[in-house]
Amino acid sequence: MSNSQDLKTLQSEEVELTFEYERLQNCSISLDLTRGKPSTRQTDLSSKLDGILEDNFICEDGSDARNYGGLYGLPEARALGGELLALKPEQVLAGGNSSLTLMHLCVDQCLRLGLGEAKPWLADTKNPVMLCPVPGYDRHFAISESLGIKMQNIAMTDKGPDRAALREAVKNPDVVGIWCVPKYSNPTGCTYDEVTVAAIAQLPGTAACPEFKVFWDNAYSVHDLEVPPTKLASLMSHAQESGTENGVLLFASTSKITFAGSGIAFVGMSESNLAALGKHLAYMTIGPDKVNQLRHVRLLKNNITHHMQKHAAIIKPKFEAVEQCLTQKLGNRNIATWTKPTGGYFISLDTLPGLAKNVIKLAANAGVKLTPAGATYPYGRDPQDTNIRIAPTFVKLDDLEIGMEVVALCIQLATVRQQLENHT
Ligand SMILES: Cc1ncc(COP(=O)(O)O)c(C=O)c1O
Repeated sequence: MSNSQDLKTLQSEEVELTFEYERLQNCSISLDLTRGKPSTRQTDLSSKLDGILEDNFICEDGSDARNYGGLYGLPEARALGGELLALKPEQVLAGGNSSLTLMHLCVDQCLRLGLGEAKPWLADTKNPVMLCPVPGYDRHFAISESLGIKMQNIAMTDKGPDRAALREAVKNPDVVGIWCVPKYSNPTGCTYDEVTVAAIAQLPGTAACPEFKVFWDNAYSVHDLEVPPTKLASLMSHAQESGTENGVLLFASTSKITFAGSGIAFVGMSESNLAALGKHLAYMTIGPDKVNQLRHVRLLKNNITHHMQKHAAIIKPKFEAVEQCLTQKLGNRNIATWTKPTGGYFISLDTLPGLAKNVIKLAANAGVKLTPAGATYPYGRDPQDTNIRIAPTFVKLDDLEIGMEVVALCIQLATVRQQLENHT
């Protein structure tokens, strides 16, 4: 095709796409695909939590959940956390409603006070840096930033963070830790392979910073969409083999198992580290909400797999709808790539360089709210401006289909407009 024919094709494509875009703009669409929240049908799966205790507040050890005590949580709740994190109950603290709070607490303790025998990071460096596999979770980045910790991007592969980049990065003594979402990572959905888990478990032993810590946020450990589920190797087992068990901190919660924001959060670590964390925590609280912990144990004990299968039945069709729409509208056109997670809450979509912001703006102007451009990168800076996080769980299936149609159209329109601009 000659240059002028090529230009004409692009121009007519742009006119057609603009026409379709304006038609959708007139459809009064109002959809929010931003945050990974469970839908009402999903939270309904745990409605039994209300009233499940039927006046029986007595725990397995004979104590009464209604009274003070138990800084580390109910033993049976710690066992539940152990199931999620592949740890012994003694290595787990069952806390309040938010794992992010526990993450903030632990990062802050490592930074200013040191965990257990460890020196605080600030004793050795004025410029602590955390490694951030990208794209990643914006609220992890916000914790680092709020505590004055700098961030360094590490590229993600489909097997986890790039191992060679990690080996190189930890040679810098300012590098004090790493954020990881090891299973169904937010947002790519990737699960770290065993070689990567083993390599990360070794980092606290090989890093130039003697107090290097791995923050292992296993938020989606049981959020499988397929049978058999994807397996994640045990970080703690690998850490024990490498003699680095004091360098790893693991987190989980029931936020996306029962009620988002009204569940139980867990942190797991070596027993000596846990004792040190407990000392610090004791200044803030006499103990967690054990009544809510007891409710959760009564609902979930020996029932997690079955309960999560019910979640999967609700959300799998939504992941399939996103995949179907993207394949149909954008497949084989080399204008976008996206992940096909087998669990978790997100799909990561990449446009051609320089277009994500524009696509998100076009979608917003057609009534579809997407996670702000750059949010999946530290400081909100996506260096290539390509990444868009899709959160399909909250909206209804037919709304999601409409929303994804808008997203796909906006990608086509932004791409064709860019091609026209670049056309010589
Ligand atoms: C990776 C990850 N960690 C933690 C959270 C929030 O956890 P919580 O509700 O326990 O604070 C989310 C929520 O989207 C998440 O995606």
